[in-house]
Amino acid sequence: MLDTVIRDVEILDGSGAAAIRGDVGIRDGRIDAVGDAGEARHVVDGRGLTLAPGFVDTHAHDDGAFLRFPDMAFKLAQGVTTVVSGNCGFSAVPRDPESAHADVTGGILAGIRGDFRDLEGYFAAVLERRPAINNMMLVGHNTVRALEMDLAQRSPTPQELANMKAHVTRALEQGACGFSSGLIYRPGRWSLTQEVAELAACAAPFDALYTTHMRNEGDQLLEAVEEALTIGRDAGVHLHISHHKAAGVANWGKVRASLARVDKALDAGQRVTLDVYPYTAGSGRMVEYFNLERVNRELAEVIRIASCPAFREFEGRMLKDIAAERGLDVTEAVKLVLTAPQGDRTICIHFTIDETDVETNLAHADMMVGSDGIPDLRGRPHPRLFGTFPRVLARYVRERGILSLPEAVRRMTSLSARTFGMQDRGLIATGQWADLVLFDPTAVMDTATYDEPKQYPGGIASVWVNGKLSWTDGTHCDAGAGKMLRYRRAAVGDAA
Ligand code: ZN
Ligand code: CU
Repeated sequence: MLDTVIRDVEILDGSGAAAIRGDVGIRDGRIDAVGDAGEARHVVDGRGLTLAPGFVDTHAHDDGAFLRFPDMAFKLAQGVTTVVSGNCGFSAVPRDPESAHADVTGGILAGIRGDFRDLEGYFAAVLERRPAINNMMLVGHNTVRALEMDLAQRSPTPQELANMKAHVTRALEQGACGFSSGLIYRPGRWSLTQEVAELAACAAPFDALYTTHMRNEGDQLLEAVEEALTIGRDAGVHLHISHHKAAGVANWGKVRASLARVDKALDAGQRVTLDVYPYTAGSGRMVEYFNLERVNRELAEVIRIASCPAFREFEGRMLKDIAAERGLDVTEAVKLVLTAPQGDRTICIHFTIDETDVETNLAHADMMVGSDGIPDLRGRPHPRLFGTFPRVLARYVRERGILSLPEAVRRMTSLSARTFGMQDRGLIATGQWADLVLFDPTAVMDTATYDEPKQYPGGIASVWVNGKLSWTDGTHCDAGAGKMLRYRRAAVGDAA
C-alpha cells in the first residue's frame, strides 16, 4: 500500500520532456510508481493540474532563515523544496561563536545565532528546528576570509591562506556543494584573482562547484566574466555564475556579449552554468553600493529602501521621494541613511536591470533560476523572496513565451539538482525523493509586489517534501520534513 497517490495528473518529470498523464505514487518518502499506481492511504485528485519535481532555488541566502524561520513559508509556498544557501561569499559556517570578528554578513543572512562552528554543527542546529524544506550549502569566501583575517585590506599570508583552505576543505568534507565568492563585497573585494582560484581549487578533489557574485556586474561585466572563467579553469572546477545581469542603463544589452563568452567557454569544454532572478531590480546591503566620498547619483535615484533599522518610516519608499520631502539632494539622503546608527544594516532595492536582458538570460539553455531573496521579513523585502518561481511560470512562460513550460521546469528542477549534486532529486522517477509541486499552469502566478512583497503566490495547490504533504490550499502543514543535503551523498541522517 502506497502512502500517497496523485491520480490522473499531467506529469512534467523535470527532464524537459512533454507532460504525460498518469498517477504518481509515494512510499517511505520516495517516488514508488509513475504512470499507474495502486492503492494508497491518501488519494489526491490531480485532474486539471500539473505535477513537477519541487523547485530548486539555486541562489538563496537562507542560512539564518533556517534557524529563525524554519517554516520557510516564503519558499515552500512557491513550490520550492530545496534551496542552495551560502551564496555570494556569505555562509553560516565556518564560524567562531566567541570571536569578535566583524559580522561581514550585516543582516543579509537574517542573523546567525548558536554555538556551532562547522557545517555539521550548523546542520544539527537546523534539524533541531524541523525545517520545512531541504538545504544544500556553499562555503563562502567572505565568511572564511573574515574569520581568518578580519577586514584586512591585503592578500593573505601563506599561513592565512593555508588556514582558509583548511576551512573550505572541511566544509566540503562535511557535504558543502562548493565554494562561493562575492567579489564586490567586503572583504572579498580585497582579494586578488590568484587567492580566489587557490581557494576554489579546494573544490576540485570533490568535483564540487565554484559559484560567484562576480567582481563587477556593470561597466566591467565582461572583464569580470573573464576573471570568473579563469578561476574556474585554473581551479579545475565547474563555474556557476550567480544572478547574471548587466547593471546600469549604459550596460543594458551586455548580457548578450557575456553569454556569448560563456558559450565559447562551453564549446571549449569548460563547465559553466548560471542563474538569474526574474526581476529588473536587485537588492542588497546599501552600504556595499556607495562610496560616501563620491555618491553615485544615478544609482541613488533608483534606490528603494527595503528595510532600515534607523528609519523604519523609509521602508518601502524610493530614496528620491524621501529626499524631496526633506528638501535634501538624493546624494545627501544616501549619507543620511548610511551614517545613521545601524545605517550599515539597511537593505535596499535598486532598479538597475533591463527587462530585455532578463528575457535574454531566461532564453539560455544553461540558465537556472535563483531568487537571491534576502530573508529579512521586517520592512518591505524585494518581492523575489516570495514570488520568483511562480513569476517565471506566469510571466516568462505563459505570458511572454520566452521558454516552454517543460523547459522552465527542467531549469528549475533536474538541471539545478544535478549541477548542485542533490542526490536522487530533481526528477519524477521511481526511486527519487518525493519532492513534488502540484500546480495549475493556467493560474500559477506571483502576487508579491514591491509595495506588498510578503504575499504568497496563487495557483500552487500542494507541495510535498520528502514525501510529506507540506503545503496545501494555501496552508502550511507544519510537516517539518526538510533535510540537510550533502553534495552527491545521502542527506544528514539518511543511510548512504
Ligand atoms: Zn550576490
Ligand atoms: Cu546573492
